[in-house]
Amino acid sequence: KEHSTVSITVVGASGDLAKKKIFPALFALYYEGCLPEHFTIYGYARSKMTDAELRDMVSKTLTCRIDKRENCGEKMEEFLKRCFYHTGQYDSQEHFVALDKKLKEHEGGRLSNRLFYLSIPPNIFVDAVKCASSSASSSSGWTRVIVEKPFGRDSKTSAALTKSLKQYLEEDQIFRIDHYLGKELVENLSVLRFSNLIFEPLWSRQYIQNVQFIFSEDFGTEGRGGYFDHYGIIRDIMQNHLLQILALFAMETPVSLDAEDIRNEKVKVLRSMRPIQLEDVVIGQYKSTTKGGVTYPGYTDDKTVPKDSLTPTFAAAALFIDNARWDSVPFLMKAGKALHTRSAEIRVQFRHVPGNLYNRNSGGTNLDRTTNELVIRVQPDEGIYLKINNKVPGLGMRLDQSHLNLLYSARYSKEIPDAYERLLLDAIEGERRLFIRSDELDAAWALFTPLLKEIEEKKTIPEFYPHGSRGPVGAHYLAAKHNVQWGDLS
Ligand code: BG6
Repeated sequence: KEHSTVSITVVGASGDLAKKKIFPALFALYYEGCLPEHFTIYGYARSKMTDAELRDMVSKTLTCRIDKRENCGEKMEEFLKRCFYHTGQYDSQEHFVALDKKLKEHEGGRLSNRLFYLSIPPNIFVDAVKCASSSASSSSGWTRVIVEKPFGRDSKTSAALTKSLKQYLEEDQIFRIDHYLGKELVENLSVLRFSNLIFEPLWSRQYIQNVQFIFSEDFGTEGRGGYFDHYGIIRDIMQNHLLQILALFAMETPVSLDAEDIRNEKVKVLRSMRPIQLEDVVIGQYKSTTKGGVTYPGYTDDKTVPKDSLTPTFAAAALFIDNARWDSVPFLMKAGKALHTRSAEIRVQFRHVPGNLYNRNSGGTNLDRTTNELVIRVQPDEGIYLKINNKVPGLGMRLDQSHLNLLYSARYSKEIPDAYERLLLDAIEGERRLFIRSDELDAAWALFTPLLKEIEEKKTIPEFYPHGSRGPVGAHYLAAKHNVQWGDLS
């Protein structure tokens, strides 16, 4: 290890993602001592900038959780000294050759490993990969490329992208990021299930009535309308983040914790999913609202969005996995922007206790409230809680529902790392477990492409909902149709 070096090039260094997530995550890894001894970080982008200007830009974004800690300033200085900048076009071999020269100088003849993080718009992915791989890949160690979604817009464009990337890279060099897989509670999902005897035996249609994957944001597209309008919430959140969580949730026990074993199981679940019916989907779009004298903009008030856009900013869907474990169990998804709150959670609603003695004695009222529910709160206030029925203390016999609550902030003093920290570290270490393999991607698109096509061809009108509300009422009818009540409303 002393003889090797890692060069990390952030392609698209002046973009939002680089500033908000990638550089702060790299700094956090440095602070924690997770980066190798010899490493260099290069920012690569089109705008002219000096190393000093890049450092200045990066230093402003290092407001990550660590900056409150001791000797943070010192560490930041050390880190910034390892950051450099290279101006270049994304499709210029010549500019990547010049980058290669600079990287070699830093590597000083050591075994070189190179990581490229492509934080650039999808239309220039392939050109950048071509140039990076042919002009700036390592000649002595590994070369890996992290790519961010969107990985195409549908099966066809995704397959074309994969094909183009594979002209220049092997599959094991491509690290497709889905940052939800790097979230602590998502990683913990398999631990919860496979290392606790009390859960795995219940993890099937026999005991689980439905599962819900809920994502909500309390802000709109805010300046990202141009990108968003081309994709919509189904492609932005459901086809990747929520579906990935679903696959991890529902997969069979993998042979081992090895990346290929886990991804083999995930892909099997995805391939067992029933085609999604349009009748099982509700789409919505937020509209302008005035509350307390303040006017909140609607989606089409965003200047980068066409006034007549039908792009959904909200969607709810019922999905089914046609295998022995999950036959007929509704897997509900709900994702929306400009809703009343920001949160992401998984809700597992269990079946009724058969012949429930207590419920029977109380006249069988309000059955729904007596079922158990396991809630995995991905964010914020990370935690896991289980709703159980309990006797209210006292001389009478009255039951209520209480929570067995594992709130991370109360249980663990350590702060939770950002998803990008874990994913970047994994990419450096060559751990592929949390990255998306091309067959998983194909299966995810195969599931959503026909639905998206139908929505777009039929020009389905979204149900308009006020900015800051709980979203379209249609979502409740959809749940009710499957005999389900959204857990986040109870
Ligand atoms: C991104 C989406 O993948 O995830 C954004 O493109 C969304 O639209 C974001 O805001 C949410 O991520 P997080 O980690 O803030 O929940």
